[in-house]
Amino acid sequence: MAASPDTLSIVRPDDWHLHLRDGAALHAVVAASARQFARAIIMPNLKPPVTTVSQARAYRERILSALGGSGRSPGTFRPLMTLYLTDRTPPQEIDAAAEDGDVVAVKLYPAGATTNSDAGVTDIRHVRGVLERMQRHGMPLLIHGEVNDGTVDVFDREAVFIERVLIPLRRDFPALRVVFEHITTEQAAHYVRDAEGGIAATITPQHLLYNRNAIFSGGLRPHWYCLPVLKREHHRLALVEAATSGNPRYFLGTDSAPHAAHLKEHAAGCAGCYSAPHAMPLYAAAFEAAGRLDRLEAFASFHGPDFYGLPRNDGHLTLVREPTPIPERLPYGEHEIVPLAGGETLPWRLAEEH
Ligand code: NCD
Ligand code: ZN
Repeated sequence: MAASPDTLSIVRPDDWHLHLRDGAALHAVVAASARQFARAIIMPNLKPPVTTVSQARAYRERILSALGGSGRSPGTFRPLMTLYLTDRTPPQEIDAAAEDGDVVAVKLYPAGATTNSDAGVTDIRHVRGVLERMQRHGMPLLIHGEVNDGTVDVFDREAVFIERVLIPLRRDFPALRVVFEHITTEQAAHYVRDAEGGIAATITPQHLLYNRNAIFSGGLRPHWYCLPVLKREHHRLALVEAATSGNPRYFLGTDSAPHAAHLKEHAAGCAGCYSAPHAMPLYAAAFEAAGRLDRLEAFASFHGPDFYGLPRNDGHLTLVREPTPIPERLPYGEHEIVPLAGGETLPWRLAEEH
């Protein structure tokens, strides 16, 4: 890492949890991530979901062609593909994924827990054969860690998931490599810190920068609504502590999840924050506020590839210290989208590209 008062240059980072969507939306968002990140784990919750290796390969081609269409060289960004686990995923699909160098993980959505998760897993017992196969191949399971149980308070669903699902699952599959995605609570941060075996967690910029008051500040604010939902301040502080601790089990995953503005400004607004265009400035703001800018590089650029067994990137990304207003709205195909922190001013911006 090289730092002067005015610039910060780090080894090129990766985004270990990203929604790129498809079609016009994909074209609208892909370049923003490729500008900052060398690789990204691409979430498979399309409609219909990406459940097979051949669907993942076709989606990967669409991502690279959208990237080419945006004027960037497809060679500068590597989409790391994932399969969407369903009750009916055959274990042989895991063998096919393990042979395919571009499909690197499997995503577990508890059925109904979040956007496009209707085809998700209704009971872990249905996927035991698949998990055994993943354990054998060393293929990580990426978990959306919330119970979808209407009797459990929405703010408690992550903590309850740890006790009800995650601990028993890891007892049954002790060698399964697990990424607890977009953690939002002190319980999750501490579980990942203290648990045995191959476990890590991604942390989003919104969960480092905001607590749940943001959703209700001066009126209902749908652009701060994502899943798992923002929590109390003490949880945010625990996540900041985790992300800036230097512990290699925590790494960057934006969970940038674009939805057109009119679908969030709606009676049943979609969950998801769109952070991709200024993801690294958001993380830099969070790390700087904690007085730990020196730990941003390891969180963003080292811990992820080390966990996934991939090489760290060549090349660098430079941030410039300059108060930079975030646009209130951006084009999104035929629609518009409101980025995370739209209308706010961030202390860092991306350096111009040359
Ligand atoms: C994600 C989406 O919109 O696809 N939404 C979100 O709030 N994070 C789904 C997810 O990752 O839960
Ligand atoms: Zn997500």
